[in-house]
Amino acid sequence: MTRLGETLRAYQARDPAARSRLEIFLLYPGVHAIIYHRIAHFLYCHRCFFLARFISQWSRFWTGIEIHPGAKIGRRLVIDHGMGIVIGETAEIGDDCLLYHGVTLGGTGKDHGKRHPTLGNNVLVSTGAKVLGPFKVGDNSRIAANAVVLSEIPPNATAVGVPARTVRIAGEKVDFAGQVDQIHVTDPVQKELKALSSRLEWLEQLVEQKIQQ
Ligand SMILES: CC(C)(COP(=O)(O)OP(=O)(O)OC[C@H]1O[C@@H](n2cnc3c(N)ncnc32)[C@H](O)[C@@H]1OP(=O)(O)O)[C@@H](O)C(=O)NCCC(=O)NCCS
Repeated sequence: MTRLGETLRAYQARDPAARSRLEIFLLYPGVHAIIYHRIAHFLYCHRCFFLARFISQWSRFWTGIEIHPGAKIGRRLVIDHGMGIVIGETAEIGDDCLLYHGVTLGGTGKDHGKRHPTLGNNVLVSTGAKVLGPFKVGDNSRIAANAVVLSEIPPNATAVGVPARTVRIAGEKVDFAGQVDQIHVTDPVQKELKALSSRLEWLEQLVEQKIQQ
């Protein structure tokens, strides 16, 4: 009950359209999907795989949110709007995360065993984003709408695009091309000429020495 209470409060905090906790409890598919998942995960951990899967499929039918019973989900997860969400068997989600509709936490089909992502705490995965593979998305990171994330994302980062790239860390732009010093770069031709001239000097000295002998 405590967990349910804190989840309802998290919805109120994150969804400006949410009016009362009763409304959230009765009408929000994300809340229902999590309640079903807690039961399914308990059964999965006790090796009742068929029943676990049955509950998960029932939940999918009612909410449009498919969470594999094996997925490990932390506290206060908010699933806004729901519908079209898929969370794979070996996916892990930390505390205080927020997922929008159309999110997939899936595999690429190339991995065995752990094949789905691990989200840290307070991660936002925006609408339509796909996070595919067994890597970590760091705490407090944000995945932009419709991004396709195929590799690890550091903490406090914003990742956008297909395939996703990190464009901000802690709000600061990550612009490696812009950070390259293009003015104080050593000219490679000048460098070669310097090397040739010192070699010539050395040869001249050698010839002079030989002549003197
Ligand atoms: C990613 C997001 C969370 C913003 O995070 P942020 O850390 O504040 O990032 P910013 O808004 O500063 O954007 C950073 C850069 O990514 C770009 N960007 C943002 N979202 C993007 C997207 N979905 N696809 C491509 N580029 C995107 C911005 O234009 C900006 O580019 P710049 O570096 O050239 O200026 C937000 O853009 C987003 O996608 N929100 C969607 C939330 C959602 O799903 N809502 C559904 C409600 S129903």
